[in-house]
Amino acid sequence: MSIARYADLQGRIAVVTGGSRGIGAATALALASNGARVAVVGRDKDALDAVVAAVRADGGTAIPAVADVTSEDQLAHVRELVQGELGTPTLLAAFAGGLGAPRPTVELDAARWREILDTDLTSVFLTIQAFLPGMAASGGGSIVTMSSSAGRQPSRANAAYGAAKAGVVMLTRHLAAELGPQGIRVNCLAPSSIRTEKVAARMPPETQQAVAAQHPLGRLGTPEDVAEAALFLCSEASGWLSGLTVDVAGGRVTN
Ligand SMILES: NC(=O)c1ccc[n+]([C@@H]2O[C@H](COP(=O)([O-])OP(=O)(O)OC[C@H]3O[C@@H](n4cnc5c(N)ncnc54)[C@H](OP(=O)(O)O)[C@@H]3O)[C@@H](O)[C@H]2O)c1
Repeated sequence: MSIARYADLQGRIAVVTGGSRGIGAATALALASNGARVAVVGRDKDALDAVVAAVRADGGTAIPAVADVTSEDQLAHVRELVQGELGTPTLLAAFAGGLGAPRPTVELDAARWREILDTDLTSVFLTIQAFLPGMAASGGGSIVTMSSSAGRQPSRANAAYGAAKAGVVMLTRHLAAELGPQGIRVNCLAPSSIRTEKVAARMPPETQQAVAAQHPLGRLGTPEDVAEAALFLCSEASGWLSGLTVDVAGGRVTN
């Protein structure tokens, strides 16, 4: 699949959390293929190195940054690393997360609830907080956050994940209003049923077919479908869009 081209992304500095695999990896590759210089953030060093190697093999520029994005200290370290090796980022894709596995609420103890909220909501706040001062001082930029169809309507995912992802939608709208005067746009993606490596490995083919059939466009999404939407929101092609949540959902839109 060929990736869209946005000339204004050439030379921009981007940070992609959750970049070690799945949707984030596809987004890091798509940004780099548009000429952006990308810091790829995750916890799995080997997986990060593989994504960075793929970018470099394609002629692009990327660096790996190992961090747990629920940790302010580790994010501060990433900021210093990126500043030293690439410069000040003006594009930020805060995509890390994914603790959506179904679990009855009665089995969701307080520790697990907090872990999911930390991973899928607080991490987005902390990531933005880490890079916001530099972006504002640079005169602006574009932030893309990651919600989910599970944050748009009740779903099979656990309740903490649904609440966290709904929180990302409102965090995005709030920040869009607050940061617009500083030239910073903030938009959100809400994917449904993306066939990442993990989904492909864990979901039996007959289940994949059944889930695909629940979407008007009749297939599962791909990481590249989400990366394309992220590219558009990063680019000045969407320069008058802020505060939006885009349902990357094959037409399965109920909001
Ligand atoms: N796949 C879908 O159908 C779908 C639908 C809606 C929303 N989403 C959202 O899309 C995002 C990416 O999901 P995916 O499907 O691509 O999942 P994935 O393949 O499991 O990737 C998850 C990514 O998040 C990173 N991550 C998770 N917790 C982290 C932490 N505490 N610190 C640093 N990195 C962390 C992982 O890094 P390491 O493995 O290196 O730690 C990995 O790069 C998630 O926010 C997920 O909720 C996915």
